[in-house]
Amino acid sequence: MSRERIVSGDIISAEEESFILSLRPKLLGEYIGQQALKEKLKVSIQAARKRRESCEHVLFYGPPGLGKTTLAHIIANEMGTRLVATSGPALSRTGDLMGILTNMKEGDILFIDEIHRLSPAIEEFIYPAMEDFKVDFVVDKGAFAKVINIPLKRYTLIGATTRAGLLSPPLRDRFGLYYHIDFYKASELKEIVMRSAGLLEVYVTEEAAGEIARRARGTPRVANRLLRRVRDFVTVKADGEVTLELAKKALDSEGIDTIGLDNLDRKFLKVIIEFYKGGPVGIEALGATLNEETDTLVDMVEPYLLKIGFLQRTRRGRMVSPDACRHLGLAVDDSSQAKLF
Ligand code: ADE
Repeated sequence: MSRERIVSGDIISAEEESFILSLRPKLLGEYIGQQALKEKLKVSIQAARKRRESCEHVLFYGPPGLGKTTLAHIIANEMGTRLVATSGPALSRTGDLMGILTNMKEGDILFIDEIHRLSPAIEEFIYPAMEDFKVDFVVDKGAFAKVINIPLKRYTLIGATTRAGLLSPPLRDRFGLYYHIDFYKASELKEIVMRSAGLLEVYVTEEAAGEIARRARGTPRVANRLLRRVRDFVTVKADGEVTLELAKKALDSEGIDTIGLDNLDRKFLKVIIEFYKGGPVGIEALGATLNEETDTLVDMVEPYLLKIGFLQRTRRGRMVSPDACRHLGLAVDDSSQAKLF
């Protein structure tokens, strides 16, 4: 169920992927937000181009939907090289990775999404491929086993992960560049909405773009998805420009509240307040009560609630803030019992 959340940072369907692709900026100059990161990346790219070398291996980490894949494609475009994309769970056999790596040309980019989900065997295999640009391939078995050393071209590995903490230290240390991607400001998201609206040829007023941005929980992918829902709503109900009033109506009808929380966020907070007296409560207990995978809660629900200060992660468990109670119209009374105002 949570896979289909319209406020999820993850891509929901193949059809949506092509929509997102059509809006994706191709060059650094078109990319809105992440100013500090862009400056650093620009220097690395220019330095590599000047020296006619490949770029260093790059690790992007941060919540889904913030532009990790987009940035990998931008690096490839700026460097004028090819990009081969795969993901941690998709690489199950060393043979597959061997094929990909030995086909890489000088400067090509290998993008591995969800790199924290590589199997230990693949991880071992990738160390020399990152550090010394070679792979060790074992042929034959037992007493006849031989290790063949295959040199690789100087490619660039770009890894993306939602949680850097899940990456093993030896893998993390092999990346020369290490960038955290944070949630976007509402003003940046507004700019992104205006840019996307222009590409989609939808007329959106400044106020409407601001409203969509405020409800997009710091995430460009969510902003673009909300824009699309609003566009559909306006096509059916009004046929014309997207005004503030129509944007609000469309987003309310999707169950997205004024700060971008959806049903699952509200349920999550409510369970902590009403069931666990505001916390602290362990994530496993919450997962069981909500009938959701703990990974879903950790990756897709908690980051934004932590960011806006509605949730605190303590050693004893999760706790909600008074702001969260106020937002939901709930109070935690003296005996820590939640009750309706
Ligand atoms: N579309 C999605 N993310 C974007 C960004 N950071 N800048 C411009 N357009 C985008």
